[in-house]
Amino acid sequence: MARWLEEIKRTHSCGMLREGDIGRDVVLFGWVQRAHNKGGVVFVDLRDRDGITQVVFDREDFAEAYALAETFRREWVIGVRGAVRDRGTMRNPKIATGAIEVLAHEGTVFNRSETPPFEITDDNGTRDELLLQYRYLDLRRPKLQQSLRTRSRVNQVTRQHFYDLGFTEIETPSLVKYTPGGARNFIVPSRMQAGKFYALAESPQLFKQLFMVAGFDRYFQIARCWRDEDLRLDRQPEFTQIDVEMSFVTQEDIFAVVEQLLGKVFKEILGVDLSERFAGGKFPHMTFAESMRRFGNDKPDMRFAMEHTDLTELAIAHKGGGVPLLEEIALRFERGEDRRDLPQHIVKAMVIPADGGPAQKPLSRKDLDELELFVKQMRAQGLARAKVSDDGTWAQTPWKSATPEFVRAVNEATGAKPGDILLFQLGKESLVQTVMANLRLHLGKKLGFIPEFGTRDHNYSFLWVVDPPLFEWDDEHKTWSPAHHAFTRPQDDSLAWLESDPGRVLCYRYDVVLNGVEVGGGSIRLHDPEVQQRVFSVLGIDEQESRAKFGFLLDALKFGAPPHGGLAIGMDRLVMLLTGAESLRDVVAYPKTAQGLDLMMGAPGPVSDGQLADVHVTRLEKRE
Ligand code: AMO
Repeated sequence: MARWLEEIKRTHSCGMLREGDIGRDVVLFGWVQRAHNKGGVVFVDLRDRDGITQVVFDREDFAEAYALAETFRREWVIGVRGAVRDRGTMRNPKIATGAIEVLAHEGTVFNRSETPPFEITDDNGTRDELLLQYRYLDLRRPKLQQSLRTRSRVNQVTRQHFYDLGFTEIETPSLVKYTPGGARNFIVPSRMQAGKFYALAESPQLFKQLFMVAGFDRYFQIARCWRDEDLRLDRQPEFTQIDVEMSFVTQEDIFAVVEQLLGKVFKEILGVDLSERFAGGKFPHMTFAESMRRFGNDKPDMRFAMEHTDLTELAIAHKGGGVPLLEEIALRFERGEDRRDLPQHIVKAMVIPADGGPAQKPLSRKDLDELELFVKQMRAQGLARAKVSDDGTWAQTPWKSATPEFVRAVNEATGAKPGDILLFQLGKESLVQTVMANLRLHLGKKLGFIPEFGTRDHNYSFLWVVDPPLFEWDDEHKTWSPAHHAFTRPQDDSLAWLESDPGRVLCYRYDVVLNGVEVGGGSIRLHDPEVQQRVFSVLGIDEQESRAKFGFLLDALKFGAPPHGGLAIGMDRLVMLLTGAESLRDVVAYPKTAQGLDLMMGAPGPVSDGQLADVHVTRLEKRE
């Protein structure tokens, strides 16, 4: 008897056979998706990484093989040898191999399987916890197989791209020194250095800058990063970056390298030619300030309009326009408590079209009340609104005292027409922006301007968001803090304000945004120790503190650091968008839950007192 695997070798995968193969003798290996006995004939759907082939075991023709097939159960691992034949009228157009079937002459069982806890099909209605506990079974699903294969191809295209451009791929350490600021680190106790801790690298940032000091000129890495942050659909505690750094460049040079990469990835994976949509494959730019003004955040989804209108100036000019809440805002500016160029309090509006957008579902009062609840969940006080009447006056509004001039001016500024509904938000800038940005996205989906997240949309809207401020005002501590990190280079024509008006200083930082998701970001770095020192002073970091925190970087910058900059793309997020996945979980092989758990292996898990003692850590007594 010929031996399976040694002598009987696989000839095809389960997704390969077509009409042209009819008559051929083949050997297939795979898993039993389904085995169905129809009195004397067993039909098996045989599955492997490539697809499904129907295999037929017929008692009349091959009694021994048939007897074996009668024992098959779901997820058994089997081999079959047989002849490809036409399925005739029973063809299944839904699968690639649907024209044929294999009539098995002989078969073997490589391994049996217990009854799996769920069916290996997409959308099997199983709860997430069970799927994650048996991740290796879930990974058998075609959709996940496809996602991870896409991920692998993105890796391949990325490596090729950077190698072709003369970049050097270098790995950087994962066990690093804890540095305050930025994302929260996971910490790892050291056994050899009692009482000391490593941190898991949140990104290769400092190392890649040092590569530039070392003269590597063009570095990239497909780098694993760890961040101990609260998790969301687009955030995992460990994730992968396509990490890049270049010397002697402007931000435009970096954009070009990234645009070319994304162009290749989209062509290769989706067959989408980005240069058809964006002239020369170059993505449009928008300043941070414009993005905040029009969309309320720095990662606008450009697939639809529903832009915000900033009414702050108008409210000031009309001294509140007869609306008490707006009068208070206007007074703040009059009294000099707020600045026009950097306001603390703002007023914004958004227009809901009378026809209810592409979904053609004009909003009811109930819908509007629900919107109010939606914004209150974000800690907004409320959601003032007004319906524009045929004569331009406002109905259904709490702002009944608004002056006719103000009403007219607002209608004009927002472009609101009869039947449209105006939504207003006012108060602290950061809250107004967040609320209005989320409201826009919520309405974008509700009114049918954008498809539900997770459904693939071939309208890929890329954008560079540029020129953000270098500092952020930390109201709680009454200090300036870095909007991103302290090593971003201020723009040359902003330097004059560094000490006198830090809030006005813009910097060379940029994010690449796709359909409202921040896919990547980076900056031109500070390479001049003198400017670096000035930035630290604004941040209130004295020499001693800066040395303690960043000593080695500051030293390195003194030894001939070239001008340099870079960026990192979130690989997981990119693949999520490419595959139309709903969450990073669908593009990460072994993901964590929102609580940071690996349900399959049970991480994080307990350790013994002895293990803790080895690393010089004592257990906190449990509080009663
Ligand atoms: P940043 O922190 O913006 O920049 O990260 C770059 C990109 O990484 C992705 N990303 C994540 N993806 C999944 N889960 C997470 N928890 C997560 N956090 C970030 C995002 C993001 O745009 N060193 C700088 C880059 C540089 O300046 O060169 C950095 O890490 O897509």
